[in-house]
Amino acid sequence: MSRLRVAVVGATGAVGQEMVSVLESRRFPVSDLVPLASERSRGKSVTFHGEAIEVKVLGKDSFRRVDLALFSAGGSISKEMAPVAVKDGAVVVDNSSAFRMEPEVPLVVPEVNPEAIAGHRGIIANPNCSTIIMVVAITPIHRLSPIQRIVASTYQASSGAGARGMDALLRELDGEGRRSSTVPLNTKAQGSPFPHRLAGNLIPRIDVLLDNGYTREEMKMVHETRKIMGLPPIPISATCVRVPVERAHSESIQVTTASPLTLDQIRTALRAAPGVKLEDAPREDIYPMPLIVSGQDDVSVGRIRRHPDEPSTYDLWVVGDQVRKGAALNAVQIAEKLFCA
Ligand code: A2P
Repeated sequence: MSRLRVAVVGATGAVGQEMVSVLESRRFPVSDLVPLASERSRGKSVTFHGEAIEVKVLGKDSFRRVDLALFSAGGSISKEMAPVAVKDGAVVVDNSSAFRMEPEVPLVVPEVNPEAIAGHRGIIANPNCSTIIMVVAITPIHRLSPIQRIVASTYQASSGAGARGMDALLRELDGEGRRSSTVPLNTKAQGSPFPHRLAGNLIPRIDVLLDNGYTREEMKMVHETRKIMGLPPIPISATCVRVPVERAHSESIQVTTASPLTLDQIRTALRAAPGVKLEDAPREDIYPMPLIVSGQDDVSVGRIRRHPDEPSTYDLWVVGDQVRKGAALNAVQIAEKLFCA
């Protein structure tokens, strides 16, 4: 197989750094790595297979001879620069929300809808992190009996807001803003991307509030789940909450299927499903938790229960490393399907 020139846009960020590390650990066939970031990163380097590679400042000429460009530098950079990369002949896997809902852009989770990749016209979108984690966990159930309704509540880690989010939480946990008795208890760390202090707190607002009262993050879960799973307009709703966890998103998910299933059927399907780890022995205190799932590729599923009053409704507790499967790993898996299949 020929080796590829691979650009990583946003290579100094939380997801970009993980993309570089996933390319390395999965031995993706890279001939040259081109790490790209902003002026602020001039002089920095990233390590790839033991070699320090200088980070270049992103510009219109960054994509010459690039075969694959992984973008994770925010929506406005993707909107401006992904078409430039495509014009120069690269295939773009974009981690931002810029193109996800465009009808001609495939929105892909390889365990769920790998067939959508074939229809790409240069850009393939990587879904929202909470959406990826959810659809990996519920698709095996949907394949047993079509899902008719989804209700999700998320517990999203600080690193979902990038390196700045993780850094703000760590500084708050270290005591920043609370050392002096003259500073109010709810003072957040300087430069925090969150609307409030996160340490010792929960913030039930991720991304902007929309006219319908839901946040954009919540509506991303609704619209993206329908697109990836090819669902009819069944009821789906979400409540997305930022929690003071460094890494890995947790989700309480309730699904209703067309016909009743046994819990054994569900567990057997999840055990066999690619990308899923079943951790469902709550009496032995075995269930997914962010501290255990951080750094793990698979999405962990546990606490599987049948609704006490509705035989076709089930509750699940799902945890996934959102920097990895929720972003970097999913993007590299898409690239593997494109170039290595
Ligand atoms: P930089 O580190 O130079 O600011 P995160 O989501 O973890 O905050 O990371 C965002 C990534 O996007 C970083 O690598 C950041 O680079 C990059 N980025 C942000 N703005 C730009 C820009 N205008 N041009 C290129 N890269 C950018």
